[in-house]
Amino acid sequence: MIRRSCALAAACAALGACNNYQTALGGDGADSANFVGLFWVFFAVCAFMYLLLLGAFLIALARSRRSDEPRIVDNGKHHESAPFLRPLIVVWGALTLIGLSALTIESFFVDRSNAADAAHPQLVVNVTANQWWWDVKYSTSGATTTIRTANELHLPVDVPTEVTLQSNDVIHSLWIPNLAGKQDLIPGRVTDVQLWPRKIGLFRGQCAEFCGVQHAHMALDVTVESKADFRKWLAAQGRPAAQPGNPVEMAGYRFVTTSACASCHNIAGTPAGGGVAPDLTHFASRRSIAAGALPMSEANVRAWISDPQHFKPGSQMPTMPLSGTEVSAIAAYLDRLK
Ligand code: CUA
Repeated sequence: MIRRSCALAAACAALGACNNYQTALGGDGADSANFVGLFWVFFAVCAFMYLLLLGAFLIALARSRRSDEPRIVDNGKHHESAPFLRPLIVVWGALTLIGLSALTIESFFVDRSNAADAAHPQLVVNVTANQWWWDVKYSTSGATTTIRTANELHLPVDVPTEVTLQSNDVIHSLWIPNLAGKQDLIPGRVTDVQLWPRKIGLFRGQCAEFCGVQHAHMALDVTVESKADFRKWLAAQGRPAAQPGNPVEMAGYRFVTTSACASCHNIAGTPAGGGVAPDLTHFASRRSIAAGALPMSEANVRAWISDPQHFKPGSQMPTMPLSGTEVSAIAAYLDRLK
């Protein structure tokens, strides 16, 4: 029992340590900050009304107890049991009207403010959802190349960004609670969500619409960084993949670029040019593997490629019959793709 309590306390402490990583009360984006303000106004108004109602209920309960006691009837005269009841009901009605009006007006202004924020995006990112991963494309202004990554979104702080959303299979929903509200990704339609991050930090987005057995493993790592860091990251992502640096990595490179891997995955600057699976050009620079299924590390890459179906059953990545030497070589090469 004690051990279980200790484990619970440790888990709470661990959650507390990263409590701003994925929260709708973070207010780290313009829309999210508006929502947080709106939430507290709703909370205050509703809590006030709730406490009033509870108070009235308790008073009524106390009075009903008292009225159970035997009473002397005064010559059949009618006595109003609570003369103050009528003004109280009027005050209650007025408070309800004022409260509901305040909530309506506040909601209207938040909606207007969010719409105004969305009017002039300075950066456009295209996100396509798949079962169960995110395909992310940046089209840099003036450049002909499209920079492609997967399961991660880098955003410059204080830059209004429009994220256009598409889906290749079923309906998904993009939700980065620290930055903005949810938006559905619907096959055959283009939707969008406006992100205007206000604080530098690491956040977590999540698919918020049940989309199949691996819905929970459809996370999006979000990095909000300074404009200079963002430019540096984008430039690095635009470069071709690193060359293998030793014989083990070379063996991995050969396997990945000549086997079935190459028909699904793209690695820029190599013969691997598949387009239906996550782009691996800078795979090892990401924070997680397979949309949040595992944290990024060479050991986890090895575990993942040994048996993807163990970690993400139902995903498109098949478990291939690989020898231990092949797994080590592939993991060593992929780990080089920073
Ligand atoms: Cu995609 Cu749930």
